[in-house]
Amino acid sequence: MRLSLAALVLAILPIGLRQSCPPSWSLDSAPTAAIYDPNPNHLWNRLHAAIFIRSDIPSTGKVPDALDPPLWYRTSYLLAPPSHQRIMKILDEFLETDGERLIQDPVKRAILARDLWWVFDWSVERQPEYNQPAYEKEKQELQSRLAEVMRRVALTPEEIRTLPSNYALAANSGQFGKEYDPSHPNRPFLPPDLFDPNGPWVQLYGNGPNMEPVASSHAHTFSRSTFLVFIRLPAGRKATFDYLQTLWDFPQPWIPRPDDERHEQTIVNPNLPQFPAGTEVALVRQMMLFDNQGNVVATPITESVQIRFYRKISEIDRMHATTQAEAMRGSGQDFYQFRLSRPQLFARSTGGLRATDPDEREFAMFGFSGADEGEPRQYMSLDNYQPVMQSCFMCHSHAGINSLNTRERLLKPNWLQRDSPPGPGDQTNANWWQYDSDANWKQGRYEWGWLKGYWNTAAGTSR
Ligand code: HEC
Repeated sequence: MRLSLAALVLAILPIGLRQSCPPSWSLDSAPTAAIYDPNPNHLWNRLHAAIFIRSDIPSTGKVPDALDPPLWYRTSYLLAPPSHQRIMKILDEFLETDGERLIQDPVKRAILARDLWWVFDWSVERQPEYNQPAYEKEKQELQSRLAEVMRRVALTPEEIRTLPSNYALAANSGQFGKEYDPSHPNRPFLPPDLFDPNGPWVQLYGNGPNMEPVASSHAHTFSRSTFLVFIRLPAGRKATFDYLQTLWDFPQPWIPRPDDERHEQTIVNPNLPQFPAGTEVALVRQMMLFDNQGNVVATPITESVQIRFYRKISEIDRMHATTQAEAMRGSGQDFYQFRLSRPQLFARSTGGLRATDPDEREFAMFGFSGADEGEPRQYMSLDNYQPVMQSCFMCHSHAGINSLNTRERLLKPNWLQRDSPPGPGDQTNANWWQYDSDANWKQGRYEWGWLKGYWNTAAGTSR
């Protein structure tokens, strides 16, 4: 059998075996997860479980520590009965018993605030199908409670500044390699010099039109995070900047779109100057938070790291790749991913970052439709997803520079990516997490205004 790319993409779309009928969980037999405290019945654990373990998708119970809650654009979970009643009961208990006092650890408070923020934003942004109820009343009930809990667990600006720089802890933990090892390409690595402002990795900072962040697709999906993109050519920093200059000087970076008969649209020229084998690129996702003054701020906590190493510059041979593994190898790249683990972060172990195993599955939150589209009996189980590490090349399949999805930022008419002399604060690794342009962008967004509206209404009430 030959696999076309379309067939490969289909392979990870929500089709395939469907799970059996969801169990009906009563309000009192709700699932639990020991994330914040060893006691699974701890109020914070129950709140976490109500969000992350869905009774209508039982396999969510296999990934209670998922990076993001399993809520998508069409989702009505937490708004429809009985999950709505369940979360309302827990949120009311939290508010009535001053649940925020149960845990003082700023790292745990930061994570709860972050997760609730996701749920709040999701409830504002979700788009129900035309034949689904809008759940306006339930949305308002949920949002008002979430906003109040978030306000109560918010950290001070000083507490946020002193959250751990967990990337550095992870990279120096000895658990992972420090660079790509050609004789052990399966060994996950985290370069300790990734954030070094004078080091070999160059951060791409080009904002797009409307000042959107450099990784605009990720930033739109995960608008509570900052995304940093890095590139490193094998010969180091100067060679990387020389290459970026060559890209910038390329005379025709854009060409007419071949299938556009009206000749109105352009695409990136597929014949851009190529970078050499041995080039690496990284995408770092870092947590933003709101402080107790109601401002969005960048934090030093890294939520995920994705790295691609180019063993060779090659295009997948779509005609001859017979298996997924063969197609992946044919991309010329090796792929790596690290994800935040809440229990490890709370235990201050390996910086709280965990390498994704080759067979690990996740509910896809980026670039694919939700697991809960269609009738409940058709909901997608975790087991039906492809392993995450086999999904990377679907979106990064082309040769070298053509698989760099942020390459548009490096071409005219954007800004030339220059090496700026380090500023006074640039001598430490800390400056990167103070990168706040994504925070400014977030503060201009609709859902942020909505949350502020709740807080403004609550202003003057007791804390
Ligand atoms: C559904 C499509 C999709 C999948 C799957 C995907 N990516 Fe990406 N990736 C993107 C897009 C789009 C960007 C560009 C940034 C943006 O606009 O958000 C990107 C950016 C990146 C970057 C920054 C450099 C660049 O190409 O711009 C790295 C590194 C990266 N991805 C690694 C990975 C790894 C490793 C995996 C698998 C674990 C993966 N990606 C899976 C779509 C995807």
